[in-house]
Amino acid sequence: MLDFNTIINNIHSDLKNEVVKGVVASYIPELSKQDVNHFGIFMQHMDGRTFMAGDANVPFSIQSISKVLTLSKAIAFEDNNLWTRVDVEPSGNPFNHLSLLELENGIPRNPLINAGAIVVADILCTQFKNPKADFLQYVRDISNDQSINYNYKVAASEKLTGYNNYAAANLLKSFGNLHNDVEVVLDFYFHQCALEMTCAQVAKAFYVFANSGKCVNNKQHVTVSQAKRINAIMLTCGFYDESGEFAFEVGLPGKSGVGGGIVALLPNKFVITTWSPGLNAKGNSLIGMQALEQFTTQTNLSIF
Ligand code: DON
Repeated sequence: MLDFNTIINNIHSDLKNEVVKGVVASYIPELSKQDVNHFGIFMQHMDGRTFMAGDANVPFSIQSISKVLTLSKAIAFEDNNLWTRVDVEPSGNPFNHLSLLELENGIPRNPLINAGAIVVADILCTQFKNPKADFLQYVRDISNDQSINYNYKVAASEKLTGYNNYAAANLLKSFGNLHNDVEVVLDFYFHQCALEMTCAQVAKAFYVFANSGKCVNNKQHVTVSQAKRINAIMLTCGFYDESGEFAFEVGLPGKSGVGGGIVALLPNKFVITTWSPGLNAKGNSLIGMQALEQFTTQTNLSIF
């Protein structure tokens, strides 16, 4: 039987002293304050066991990891033309790239790049009565943790320098693919990205996708088929123009964020979260990717 505790702690102690850790995101000023030396790993096994190393209980800004959570809620609402407004193809481009959006008439390549996530945010702004409060409650419910909250400073900081996302939202609006006001949608989007969670909380939230749509409390939030689709999109689009590399190295559906978090899962087996704020050139956590590559190589646990 695999000794996950030893495997995770060995990977953590091997990698925590790496000299090259990547660069902390600075285009959102508040994120540049993060200490590059943070490093946490948390694994939630589906049999109930948990394993952790390092800063697994330190909150961080989940950023683009939130795009999977908003997508799951938009999918669950159904009947909102989601798949006519967003495609499901990898973009092969950076997460904030805009030229394809114009070439493809305002239909974002997938819901995990910024433009696609802004369309999903627009859908939630229409469907929810109180979008920010209702979405926060959804995240708290699927994670079974009422202490999760937004970091309002991070949301305000991103708004101040959010020129690229304003450009994306305005382009979407010009193509008729944004139904609410740009300001309303981006206010929601900046807050979803500013959700602050620990590796442990992220792993609990993503349990729902590893467990055929049922959360840690056994409540069905998305259907079996919806969970399958969400995992497929994570596998093909979760790491932007490094999605192929992540599938090649790690072999699991997953999602990264510029706060340095990565969550990955093997359906019916486990969810694993890493956090190390230093990013590689593509905006994914450098040490986190290495840790997950080592984990699936040493355990032989991947979808392939
Ligand atoms: O919209 C942005 O640029 C950020 N709030 C999120 C980007 C992000 O996390 C991309 N991830 N690797």
